[in-house]
Amino acid sequence: MRGPDAWLAAEVRTYTDRTSRSRKRFEIARKVLPGGDTRSITFYEPYPVAIAAAGGIQLTDMDGNRYRDFLLNYTSLITGHRHPVVQRAARLAMDRVVAVAAPAPGQVELATELADRIPSVERVRFLSSGTEAAMLAVRIARAVTGRSVVIKAIGGYHGSYPDLDFMLRPGSRPLGVPESSEVVAVPYNDTGRLVSVVEQLGERCAAILLEPALGAAGIVPGDAEYLRSAERVARRNGALFILDEVITFRLGRGGLQGLLGLSPDLTVLGKIIGGGFPVGALGGRAEPMEVLAPRGERSIAHSGTFNGNPVTMAAGLAGLKLLTPSAYAHLDALGARLADGIRAAFASSGVTGSVTQVGSLLNVHFTGGPVNDADGAWSSDKPSMGAFHLGLLNRGVFVAPRGMLAVSLATTANDVDAALAAIGDTLTGMCGDMRRAESTVASFGQ
Ligand SMILES: Cc1ncc(COP(=O)(O)O)c(C=O)c1O
Repeated sequence: MRGPDAWLAAEVRTYTDRTSRSRKRFEIARKVLPGGDTRSITFYEPYPVAIAAAGGIQLTDMDGNRYRDFLLNYTSLITGHRHPVVQRAARLAMDRVVAVAAPAPGQVELATELADRIPSVERVRFLSSGTEAAMLAVRIARAVTGRSVVIKAIGGYHGSYPDLDFMLRPGSRPLGVPESSEVVAVPYNDTGRLVSVVEQLGERCAAILLEPALGAAGIVPGDAEYLRSAERVARRNGALFILDEVITFRLGRGGLQGLLGLSPDLTVLGKIIGGGFPVGALGGRAEPMEVLAPRGERSIAHSGTFNGNPVTMAAGLAGLKLLTPSAYAHLDALGARLADGIRAAFASSGVTGSVTQVGSLLNVHFTGGPVNDADGAWSSDKPSMGAFHLGLLNRGVFVAPRGMLAVSLATTANDVDAALAAIGDTLTGMCGDMRRAESTVASFGQ
């Protein structure tokens, strides 16, 4: 019987043999694109597969290999790739107007749909990304409170915005983040710590900005009581409570706040609200949001050449209209089926691991410890995750290199079962001495 080193070496050979065009493209790409792509997150060792076409949840790479997509552009493609209804809406919009510096079709309709779904949202400002929406939320909080400090969670991701990248990884201040940043990071799901930091900051605290489930840190569900306490303590101290629902809005008609009974002052949105096109939105109560209405010195001048793009607006509205109660039931059922199946696969393979899940979002963790905060998620064994990810690619399943999975309206129970077969096979291959596997994965990049 082959040991784990042999298994991993064989997987690496299989991967490089079947993806020679991706490799070639990668070598050419890195001469014009730092790291070979436009997002740090799409890179993994030895090089990523380059995708040539997509439809439903099928991806086809440059060598003609096919994958079931359980990443869905980091959860944003909730109706799958190129859903015909969304495509048609986008094409019709494109035939009228692509971009114009004037009020254009679609914004009022999409904003009305969002306000209808999310009771805390009375006004909406569209942007081109979730990052920009989070930046604007912070700016509004500082403007209306006259205070500067923003509290976030350790591991909380709010886009590629230097200030909020603080404590995105353990103990880190990433390159390019100013030392004077007025952002304080606290452990997630720790109510006592959060309350005491807010009280210490007193009148310096402008906002508490949280994801209702940590996304990039590993799909860590927020405890409902913790989130409600965060809302209460923010209100009590005259700070704004901001929820970042860029990922979690996919979990229910009114996002996770709707399911948990939260009522933030501001909500950061993105991903699924654009039908797969670039989008961001900030929604919120009328009072803070009206600071964006043009009225001279008392307002924030905020613009963006592509904000409220008509094609995005039309595609976004068409996509949201597909999200009916039965659609959410489908997504939740598939999420649960996937999570149960992965837990069973861990148990039968003997590999130590766990799964966190909220509705249609999941994350695999190679740790036996609890995953209630970013530290718990970060304790996941990275070489095992690398081996798992590679094993799944070789078996036609596309997931995030950090172990995140999501399902879409285009995903079927058959797709989930096929993914579970691949996961079971991969974990069985990985079982044994994980330390020996580690040395092989670490040598990828050398
Ligand atoms: C919770 C959260 N906030 C903000 C963002 C940033 O959104 P975008 O990538 O559209 O800038 C992301 C992206 O993954 C996210 O997950």
